[in-house]
Amino acid sequence: MAKTILEVENLKKYYIQPGGIFTPFKGAKRIIPAVDDVSFYIKENETMGLVGETGCGKTTIGRTLLKLTPVTAGRIIFDEKDITQLTPHEFLPFRRQVQMIFQDLDAALNPKMRIRSILKEALTVHHRLSDAEINREIGELLEKVNLKKSKLSNFPGELSGGEKRRVGIARALAVGARFLVADEPTSALDVSIQAQVVNLLKDLQKNLGLSYLFISHDLRIVELISHKVAVMYLGQIVEMGMAGRIAHEPRHPYTSILWSSLVEKKSRETTKVSTDSKKGTWGVFDFERPHTGCRFAPRCPVYEAKGKPSICNEPSKAPQLQDIGDAHKVRCHFPL
Ligand SMILES: Nc1ncnc2c1ncn2[C@@H]1O[C@H](COP(=O)(O)OP(=O)(O)OP(=O)(O)O)[C@@H](O)[C@H]1O
Ligand code: SF4
Ligand SMILES: [Mg+2]
Repeated sequence: MAKTILEVENLKKYYIQPGGIFTPFKGAKRIIPAVDDVSFYIKENETMGLVGETGCGKTTIGRTLLKLTPVTAGRIIFDEKDITQLTPHEFLPFRRQVQMIFQDLDAALNPKMRIRSILKEALTVHHRLSDAEINREIGELLEKVNLKKSKLSNFPGELSGGEKRRVGIARALAVGARFLVADEPTSALDVSIQAQVVNLLKDLQKNLGLSYLFISHDLRIVELISHKVAVMYLGQIVEMGMAGRIAHEPRHPYTSILWSSLVEKKSRETTKVSTDSKKGTWGVFDFERPHTGCRFAPRCPVYEAKGKPSICNEPSKAPQLQDIGDAHKVRCHFPL
């Protein structure tokens, strides 16, 4: 049976922002529970998709896994070690194995370095290699990510989006990654190139035994690559299970709405209405005005259809992530 490579237990990451004088909170500190008690595990050779609309906490989870930001609470166990407790001595070997493919294609690669230098730097950051070894390793990397040798003399700005993505993946492999956090790796790419990147990641997984946390707001892309999927809403996982079940038999009202592909559009429209009307009502997606009870209630069609049952609002009865069988979990009092 495949080994668990990553286990996240009750992870919390709260951002604390000083209140500005022009905000409605004048001077008061604001706490943003960007990740609020999240648990999951990923096995070797496995991909977990993480979906949810903008601002729900996906990147924050990715950043905590790389120790790019300290956690507020919880444990992150990578290869049997709690990385929140790593000594400086243990940090470098860990960082070699866990790499992030960043959302922003351009910010991820140094624009002043040629591709050869970018890959060379990654190869030699933890190892001393001769020129001949570097050339051989670079050749192998290009083959793995299917990038032409002629691109080595280019600067990142001279590459297409898909090529930049391939260089980013090659760089992660060069360092020695076993686990990749891929943060929206297809978001800035044309649809045909998106499929190429997904297929590349799948091939690399098959050939090198990599594990992925694949972050996206697009459930369709996530279903293509993931074995299992976690759906996030306002810092919490609201549904989690095998990719096929989440895609074709969603049980949480939010997942169902995500699938209808209307959520982004609806969210924009409703946000505009609530901002315009200045009634101080709930924003549709708002960490700053947390809802008591179920966080999704202000947008939930089931809550509306059932005549706003009080159990959905009561702070003491906030829904928990319940196992409903077949490794499927849902955070809802009235699953679909
Ligand atoms: N450094 C920070 N300081 C304060 N708040 C932050 C910081 N980074 C993120 N946040 C807030 O935490 C919440 C989660 O942000 P995060 O970037 O994890 O969302 P996301 O799901 O990755 O969104 P997107 O799909 O837009 O990339 C947001 O409300 C964001 O504004
Ligand atoms: S608990 Fe109630 S409000 Fe929350 S998702 Fe379920 S039905 Fe909707
Ligand atoms: Mg993000």
